[in-house]
Amino acid sequence: MGYGDFVLMRDLNFTIYHGDIFIIMGGSGCGKSTMMTILIGLKSPAKGRVLYDDTDFWAADQQTREQIIRRGGVMYQSGALWSSMTLGENIALPLEIYTNLSTAEVDEVVELKLELVGLAGFKDFYPSEISGGMQKRAGIARAMALDPEILFFDEPSAGLDPVSARRLDDMIIELSESMGTTMVVVTHELASIFAIGTNSVFLDVSKRTMTATGNPNKLLAESHDPTLHMFLTRGETLEK
Ligand SMILES: Nc1ncnc2c1ncn2[C@@H]1O[C@H](COP(=O)(O)OP(=O)(O)OP(=O)(O)O)[C@@H](O)[C@H]1O
Ligand SMILES: [Mg+2]
Repeated sequence: MGYGDFVLMRDLNFTIYHGDIFIIMGGSGCGKSTMMTILIGLKSPAKGRVLYDDTDFWAADQQTREQIIRRGGVMYQSGALWSSMTLGENIALPLEIYTNLSTAEVDEVVELKLELVGLAGFKDFYPSEISGGMQKRAGIARAMALDPEILFFDEPSAGLDPVSARRLDDMIIELSESMGTTMVVVTHELASIFAIGTNSVFLDVSKRTMTATGNPNKLLAESHDPTLHMFLTRGETLEK
Protein backbone atom coordinates (compact mmCIF):
# COMPACT_ATOMS: atom_id res chain seq x y z
CA MET A 1 0.00 0.00 0.00
CA GLY A 2 1.17 3.51 -0.68
CA TYR A 3 0.44 6.99 -1.91
CA GLY A 4 1.52 7.77 -5.46
CA ASP A 5 5.10 6.57 -5.84
CA PHE A 6 5.55 6.34 -2.10
CA VAL A 7 5.45 2.72 -0.91
CA LEU A 8 4.28 2.59 2.67
CA MET A 9 4.16 -1.19 3.20
CA ARG A 10 4.69 -4.23 0.98
CA ASP A 11 4.22 -8.01 1.17
CA LEU A 12 1.18 -7.90 3.41
CA ASN A 13 -0.60 -11.21 3.73
CA PHE A 14 -2.96 -12.04 6.56
CA THR A 15 -6.45 -13.36 7.25
CA ILE A 16 -9.17 -11.90 9.44
CA TYR A 17 -11.52 -14.68 10.55
CA HIS A 18 -15.23 -14.41 11.30
CA GLY A 19 -15.66 -13.48 14.97
CA ASP A 20 -12.11 -12.16 15.39
CA ILE A 21 -11.29 -9.05 17.34
CA PHE A 22 -8.49 -8.21 14.96
CA ILE A 23 -5.94 -5.55 15.95
CA ILE A 24 -4.01 -3.55 13.38
CA MET A 25 -1.00 -2.49 15.42
CA GLY A 26 2.24 -0.62 14.91
CA GLY A 27 3.96 2.65 15.72
CA SER A 28 2.81 6.11 14.71
CA GLY A 29 2.69 6.69 10.98
CA CYS A 30 3.29 3.04 10.00
CA GLY A 31 0.09 2.91 7.97
CA LYS A 32 -2.63 1.60 10.27
CA SER A 33 -5.27 4.10 9.18
CA THR A 34 -4.27 3.64 5.55
CA MET A 35 -4.74 -0.10 5.92
CA MET A 36 -8.18 0.45 7.37
CA THR A 37 -9.23 2.68 4.47
CA ILE A 38 -8.11 -0.05 2.11
CA LEU A 39 -10.01 -2.76 4.00
CA ILE A 40 -13.23 -0.76 4.02
CA GLY A 41 -12.97 -0.08 0.31
CA LEU A 42 -12.23 3.65 0.37
CA LYS A 43 -8.76 3.30 -1.13
CA SER A 44 -7.36 0.69 -3.46
CA PRO A 45 -4.17 -1.23 -2.66
CA ALA A 46 -1.19 -0.17 -4.81
CA LYS A 47 -0.83 -3.85 -5.64
CA GLY A 48 -2.48 -7.06 -4.53
CA ARG A 49 -5.95 -8.10 -3.49
CA VAL A 50 -8.40 -7.68 -0.66
CA LEU A 51 -10.58 -10.78 -0.47
CA TYR A 52 -13.95 -10.84 1.24
CA ASP A 53 -14.54 -14.57 1.56
CA ASP A 54 -13.65 -15.53 -2.02
CA THR A 55 -14.53 -12.24 -3.67
CA ASP A 56 -11.71 -9.99 -4.84
CA PHE A 57 -13.09 -6.61 -3.75
CA TRP A 58 -11.27 -4.37 -6.21
CA ALA A 59 -11.87 -6.68 -9.17
CA ALA A 60 -15.59 -6.98 -8.43
CA ASP A 61 -18.29 -5.00 -10.19
CA GLN A 62 -19.82 -1.92 -8.60
CA GLN A 63 -22.90 -3.74 -7.30
CA THR A 64 -20.87 -6.47 -5.60
CA ARG A 65 -18.59 -3.86 -4.05
CA GLU A 66 -21.55 -1.97 -2.65
CA GLN A 67 -22.93 -5.19 -1.17
CA ILE A 68 -19.60 -5.87 0.50
CA ILE A 69 -19.29 -2.32 1.82
CA ARG A 70 -22.77 -2.65 3.29
CA ARG A 71 -21.54 -5.61 5.38
CA GLY A 72 -19.24 -3.32 7.33
CA GLY A 73 -19.76 -0.47 9.75
CA VAL A 74 -17.12 2.10 10.57
CA MET A 75 -16.37 4.14 13.63
CA TYR A 76 -13.91 6.90 12.88
CA GLN A 77 -11.31 8.36 15.21
CA SER A 78 -13.55 11.20 16.41
CA GLY A 79 -16.83 9.29 16.57
CA ALA A 80 -17.95 11.62 13.79
CA LEU A 81 -21.51 12.25 14.89
CA TRP A 82 -23.48 15.07 13.27
CA SER A 83 -23.45 17.80 15.89
CA SER A 84 -26.72 19.34 14.71
CA MET A 85 -28.58 16.06 15.17
CA THR A 86 -29.65 14.26 18.32
CA LEU A 87 -28.20 10.82 19.01
CA GLY A 88 -31.48 9.31 17.86
CA GLU A 89 -31.36 11.22 14.57
CA ASN A 90 -27.73 10.27 14.05
CA ILE A 91 -28.50 6.58 14.37
CA ALA A 92 -31.70 6.85 12.34
CA LEU A 93 -29.88 8.43 9.39
CA PRO A 94 -28.30 5.28 7.87
CA LEU A 95 -31.58 3.42 8.43
CA GLU A 96 -33.51 6.10 6.56
CA ILE A 97 -31.02 6.09 3.70
CA TYR A 98 -30.51 2.36 3.28
CA THR A 99 -33.68 0.63 4.47
CA ASN A 100 -37.41 0.80 3.83
CA LEU A 101 -38.29 0.69 7.51
CA SER A 102 -41.27 2.74 8.71
CA THR A 103 -40.72 5.63 11.13
CA ALA A 104 -41.95 3.47 14.01
CA GLU A 105 -39.59 0.66 13.03
CA VAL A 106 -36.64 3.04 12.71
CA ASP A 107 -37.49 4.35 16.19
CA GLU A 108 -37.46 0.84 17.53
CA VAL A 109 -34.04 0.06 16.04
CA VAL A 110 -32.67 3.37 17.38
CA GLU A 111 -33.84 2.52 20.92
CA LEU A 112 -32.36 -0.95 20.61
CA LYS A 113 -28.96 0.24 19.44
CA LEU A 114 -28.77 2.91 22.14
CA GLU A 115 -29.59 0.27 24.73
CA LEU A 116 -26.90 -1.98 23.28
CA VAL A 117 -24.20 0.63 23.96
CA GLY A 118 -25.56 1.63 27.37
CA LEU A 119 -27.18 4.88 26.23
CA ALA A 120 -30.85 4.07 26.72
CA GLY A 121 -32.69 7.30 27.50
CA PHE A 122 -30.22 9.55 25.66
CA LYS A 123 -32.05 9.54 22.33
CA ASP A 124 -32.89 13.25 22.40
CA PHE A 125 -29.48 14.46 23.57
CA TYR A 126 -27.12 16.27 21.21
CA PRO A 127 -23.50 15.04 20.94
CA SER A 128 -22.26 18.19 22.72
CA GLU A 129 -24.45 17.34 25.71
CA ILE A 130 -22.75 14.01 26.47
CA SER A 131 -19.20 13.00 27.44
CA GLY A 132 -16.44 11.92 25.05
CA GLY A 133 -16.83 8.29 26.07
CA MET A 134 -20.56 8.45 25.47
CA GLN A 135 -19.98 10.05 22.07
CA LYS A 136 -17.76 7.13 21.11
CA ARG A 137 -20.43 4.68 22.21
CA ALA A 138 -23.05 6.61 20.24
CA GLY A 139 -20.68 6.39 17.25
CA ILE A 140 -20.64 2.63 17.70
CA ALA A 141 -24.43 2.53 17.94
CA ARG A 142 -24.61 4.37 14.62
CA ALA A 143 -22.02 2.07 13.04
CA MET A 144 -24.15 -0.86 14.25
CA ALA A 145 -27.41 0.58 12.89
CA LEU A 146 -27.47 -1.64 9.82
CA ASP A 147 -26.35 -4.75 11.74
CA PRO A 148 -22.94 -5.04 10.10
CA GLU A 149 -21.03 -8.32 10.04
CA ILE A 150 -17.80 -6.42 10.50
CA LEU A 151 -17.13 -3.31 12.55
CA PHE A 152 -14.05 -1.20 11.92
CA PHE A 153 -12.63 1.12 14.58
CA ASP A 154 -9.81 3.62 14.18
CA GLU A 155 -8.29 4.38 17.59
CA PRO A 156 -11.58 3.96 19.47
CA SER A 157 -10.14 4.93 22.85
CA ALA A 158 -8.12 7.94 21.66
CA GLY A 159 -8.75 10.89 23.96
CA LEU A 160 -10.58 8.88 26.60
CA ASP A 161 -9.57 8.58 30.24
CA PRO A 162 -8.39 5.07 31.24
CA VAL A 163 -11.70 4.11 32.85
CA SER A 164 -13.79 5.13 29.83
CA ALA A 165 -11.27 3.44 27.54
CA ARG A 166 -11.59 0.26 29.56
CA ARG A 167 -15.39 0.47 29.41
CA LEU A 168 -15.21 0.85 25.63
CA ASP A 169 -12.99 -2.24 25.42
CA ASP A 170 -15.48 -4.22 27.50
CA MET A 171 -18.22 -3.11 25.15
CA ILE A 172 -16.32 -4.23 22.09
CA ILE A 173 -15.88 -7.68 23.66
CA GLU A 174 -19.55 -7.81 24.68
CA LEU A 175 -20.76 -6.89 21.21
CA SER A 176 -18.40 -9.39 19.65
CA GLU A 177 -19.70 -12.15 21.91
CA SER A 178 -23.41 -11.29 21.82
CA MET A 179 -23.73 -10.31 18.15
CA GLY A 180 -20.88 -12.37 16.68
CA THR A 181 -19.67 -9.22 14.92
CA THR A 182 -16.13 -9.37 13.58
CA MET A 183 -14.17 -6.40 14.94
CA VAL A 184 -11.20 -4.78 13.24
CA VAL A 185 -9.52 -2.32 15.58
CA VAL A 186 -6.68 0.09 14.85
CA THR A 187 -4.90 0.87 18.09
CA HIS A 188 -1.55 1.26 19.76
CA GLU A 189 -2.99 1.08 23.28
CA LEU A 190 -1.22 -1.91 24.82
CA ALA A 191 -3.89 -2.47 27.46
CA SER A 192 -6.55 -2.72 24.72
CA ILE A 193 -4.41 -4.91 22.50
CA PHE A 194 -3.96 -7.55 25.18
CA ALA A 195 -7.44 -7.24 26.68
CA ILE A 196 -9.51 -7.57 23.53
CA GLY A 197 -7.33 -8.83 20.67
CA THR A 198 -7.85 -12.40 19.48
CA ASN A 199 -5.80 -11.88 16.33
CA SER A 200 -3.60 -9.13 14.93
CA VAL A 201 -1.14 -7.88 12.40
CA PHE A 202 1.99 -5.92 13.33
CA LEU A 203 3.26 -3.33 10.86
CA ASP A 204 6.98 -2.65 11.24
CA VAL A 205 7.60 0.87 9.99
CA SER A 206 11.38 0.42 9.62
CA LYS A 207 11.05 -2.80 7.59
CA ARG A 208 8.07 -1.46 5.64
CA THR A 209 6.21 -4.73 5.99
CA MET A 210 4.25 -6.80 8.48
CA THR A 211 6.49 -8.89 10.71
CA ALA A 212 3.85 -10.81 12.66
CA THR A 213 0.23 -11.92 12.70
CA GLY A 214 -1.64 -13.84 15.38
CA ASN A 215 -2.99 -13.56 18.92
CA PRO A 216 -1.16 -10.62 20.57
CA ASN A 217 -0.72 -12.45 23.88
CA LYS A 218 0.79 -15.38 22.04
CA LEU A 219 3.03 -13.07 20.01
CA LEU A 220 4.31 -11.50 23.22
CA ALA A 221 5.05 -14.92 24.71
CA GLU A 222 6.53 -16.53 21.62
CA SER A 223 7.96 -13.95 19.24
CA HIS A 224 11.67 -13.25 19.25
CA ASP A 225 11.43 -10.23 16.96
CA PRO A 226 13.06 -7.36 18.90
CA THR A 227 10.98 -4.58 17.29
CA LEU A 228 7.71 -6.37 18.00
CA HIS A 229 8.82 -7.22 21.51
CA MET A 230 9.74 -3.62 22.16
CA PHE A 231 6.36 -2.49 20.86
CA LEU A 232 4.44 -5.00 22.98
CA THR A 233 6.38 -4.17 26.15
CA ARG A 234 6.50 -0.44 25.49
CA GLY A 235 10.30 -0.53 25.29
CA GLU A 236 10.79 -2.22 28.64
CA THR A 237 12.88 -5.00 27.10
CA LEU A 238 15.17 -2.31 25.71
CA GLU A 239 15.67 -0.66 29.07
CA LYS A 240 16.59 -3.88 30.90
N1 LIG B 1 -3.53 11.11 1.84
C1 LIG B 1 -2.23 10.89 1.99
N2 LIG B 1 -1.35 11.24 1.01
C2 LIG B 1 -0.04 10.99 1.14
N3 LIG B 1 0.51 10.41 2.22
C3 LIG B 1 -0.30 10.05 3.22
C4 LIG B 1 -1.71 10.27 3.17
N4 LIG B 1 -2.26 9.78 4.31
C5 LIG B 1 -1.24 9.31 5.04
N5 LIG B 1 -0.06 9.45 4.39
C6 LIG B 1 1.25 9.02 4.88
O1 LIG B 1 1.23 7.61 5.07
C7 LIG B 1 1.90 7.26 6.28
C8 LIG B 1 1.00 6.43 7.15
O2 LIG B 1 -0.13 7.18 7.57
P1 LIG B 1 -1.30 6.52 8.40
O3 LIG B 1 -2.20 7.62 8.79
O4 LIG B 1 -1.86 5.38 7.67
O5 LIG B 1 -0.48 5.98 9.67
P2 LIG B 1 -1.02 5.50 11.09
O6 LIG B 1 -0.28 4.25 11.41
O7 LIG B 1 -2.49 5.46 11.12
O8 LIG B 1 -0.48 6.68 12.04
P3 LIG B 1 -1.07 7.19 13.46
O9 LIG B 1 -0.62 6.17 14.48
O10 LIG B 1 -0.34 8.48 13.66
O11 LIG B 1 -2.54 7.33 13.35
C9 LIG B 1 2.34 8.57 6.91
O12 LIG B 1 3.71 8.73 6.62
C10 LIG B 1 1.53 9.62 6.23
O13 LIG B 1 2.26 10.82 6.13
MG1 LIG C 1 -4.00 6.52 12.22
